This record gives sequence, C-alpha cells and structure tokens, in this order.
Amino acid sequence: EYAPTPRDRFSFGLWTIGFRGGDPFGAATRAELDPVEAVHRLADLGAWGITFHDDDLIPFGSDGAERSRVLSRFRAVLEKTGVVVPMVTTNLFSHPVFKDGALTANDRDVRRFALRKMLRNVELAAELGAKTFVAWGGREGSETDAGKDVRAALDRYKEGVDLVCSFIRDRGYDLRIALEPKPNEPRGDILLPTVGHALAFIDRLEHPEMVGVNPEVGHEQMAGLNYVHGIAQALWAGKLFHLDLNGQHGIKYDQDLRFGAGDLKSAFFLVDLLESAGYQGPRHFDFKPPRTEDANGVWVSAAGCMRNYLILKERAAAFRSDPRVKEALAASRVPELSTPTLGDGETCDDLLAETDFDVDQAAARGMHYERLDQLALEHLMGVR
Ligand code: GCO
Ligand code: MN
Ligand code: MN
Ligand code: MN
Repeated sequence: EYAPTPRDRFSFGLWTIGFRGGDPFGAATRAELDPVEAVHRLADLGAWGITFHDDDLIPFGSDGAERSRVLSRFRAVLEKTGVVVPMVTTNLFSHPVFKDGALTANDRDVRRFALRKMLRNVELAAELGAKTFVAWGGREGSETDAGKDVRAALDRYKEGVDLVCSFIRDRGYDLRIALEPKPNEPRGDILLPTVGHALAFIDRLEHPEMVGVNPEVGHEQMAGLNYVHGIAQALWAGKLFHLDLNGQHGIKYDQDLRFGAGDLKSAFFLVDLLESAGYQGPRHFDFKPPRTEDANGVWVSAAGCMRNYLILKERAAAFRSDPRVKEALAASRVPELSTPTLGDGETCDDLLAETDFDVDQAAARGMHYERLDQLALEHLMGVR
C-alpha cells in the first residue's frame, strides 16, 4: 500500500535527511548523519536516489586523501544498495567567503574561487553518473540596490554558467544544468527569483539547450506564485530538468515542510500535472525535517514525502478516470482550449469577415468551474 520502489524515482538531498535542525534562533537538535547510513536508510524506505552538495559529502577544505577515503566509502554503499546519484549540486553559500555571492560576487577573486569549486564539482558529478547539475544561487543577490549592479551581475552570472557549459562540452560529459530560482533567503533579494526570470535568463546563454530549471514548491509560493503554473510553463518550454518537492504555507520564510504538508490542493494538481504530462525526471525532495524530530522522526518525515506523492498520484488518477469528471471537464470546455483559435489556412481577413458571433449569448454561458473544482476536492478528500 503506497510503498515506494526505485521505479517511482524518488530521490532525497543528503542535506535534507541530514538536516540537524539548526536555525537562526537555536543550535542543532540532532546528531550528524553518516552519508553511508543515509544511503542504507533511503534504500530501505524504497527511495531511488541520493543527491548532495560537494560539502555535504566531502567537508569543505578536505585534502586529497580525505576526499578519496570519503568517496570510496560512498561508492561502496551505492554499489551495495543500488541507490543512484541522479543530481549533484555545489555549496556556494555556507562559507563566509560567499557572503556577497559566488558567480556574482563583486569581489572578482571570490568569483574565480567559486568557479573553480563548481568545475571540480562538475567532475565529481560526472564521475558518479549524475545527469543533472543543480545551481542554486542563494547568495547571488543583495540587501541594498546601491551595492549591486544587477545588469553587471547578470553578465557575470551568464559568464559563469556559459563557462560551466563549455567545460561540460569539452569534457564530453552527459550533464545538464538546472537553475533553481528563489525570491529571497538568505539574501534580501536573490537574482533569478522565479521560474519565469530563470527561463528568460536561459534564453540569453551560449548553450541554452544545456540549461533548464529546478523549481522548488516553496520557493514559488514564497513569491506568491502558483507553482503548478510555473511547472506547466517549464514543461511547455522543455526546461523541466529537475524539481524540488516540499511544502509551504504561503508567503513567509522558506518552510521546507515535507511534501504534501503545506498547500495540499496545489500538491494534488502538481502530481496530476507531472503524471499526466509524462514527466520522466526525478521526484526529488528538498525538505527539512523540523528540529522537533529526533533521528527516527527524520525517517518518518522522509517516508511521508514519498507516501504523500503516491497517494496523490492515486487520487489524481481516480479524478482523471471518473466519468463525472470527464463530463465536467467537457462542460467547462477544457478540451476546447487545445483547438487552435484559427482554422487551417484561415487568414486575418477571414477572421475579420466573421459576423455571426452572438456576443451576448457567449457572455451568458457559465464555465461550471465550481462543479469541476468540487469534484477535484472530493477526490482529494477521498470521498469519491
Ligand atoms: C534552499 C534551496 C537549497 C537548494 C540546494 C541545491 O532554499 O536552501 O532550496 O536547498 O535546493 O542548495 O542546490
Ligand atoms: Mn526551500
Ligand atoms: Mn531549501
Ligand atoms: Mn531547493
């Protein structure tokens, strides 16, 4: 019953299940999690993949010997459990050197250091067979508009992403970049704040085909936006390379609740969209088990993410196959939107020549969305 298997392609960030519960007001409440144990626990729960920032696995500043010791232990547990690494990302935000950003820091030395850190991590990502390289620019931004020339920052952002793309091409790696938008936190304002901003940025890159987006539920909702619409536009643009699933209650700090907690109705329509659109990518969770949980509670929270996805998948399928829903969709003219507005070969002159449209009659037609939405809610609530 709702038991995940690797076929479901559920993956977790090492920093999510490894989150120790520290926040700006209090210290960590949980002990450190050994990455090897994390992989075992995920495998036991039926997850498919694990992702990480370079520093989650190999502590910042490790020497070569430490690095290879950590990596060989990690490779061994992947081998043993069959857990894969679909995505790798770079920590360009924790160390104080990144306080003013990484690719867009005003300090050029910092930008060069950040790019070296990224390129080294691209090599690691490729070595471990990852297909997606996520770039979340959490420190790329400002608290004062006087301190950041945003147009210059975007030039440097583009320069950095272009450089990483050319490196991937030169090395012949099978790797694509996914930019992760977020409106704020930790910076007062972050560059590329929403899916729309990121898509527009990608269009101006040297190799736009190599770059897509990694939208996170909570991040779009922090900006007051409809995540389902953002995902739909990313799919429409062929840019949904990856996604971060979690939960959020409205416009406030980044809550990173487990998937399904937060806006459940939006989660329902999200799963409905991903499944009906045939999205093939990872179902990746970027949540934070609350600091109230002990070590065991972390795994309860992680299991809940997957279980909620599978329950919503079942509810969405029931919604789609209900004959009353099919009828209600037709009554709301939902399928009609897929018919092009002009007929084959029709011209503007043909359109202008049309005179028999009864505007009052069309204006009087109800859309019956309330009935349709009620059916969706009842399927979600499990009474249909
Ligand atoms: C956040 C972000 C990060 C990124 C991660 C991957 O708000 O902290 O969601 O968790 O997803 O750094 O690059
Ligand atoms: Mn978040
Ligand atoms: Mn987060
Ligand atoms: Mn994220």
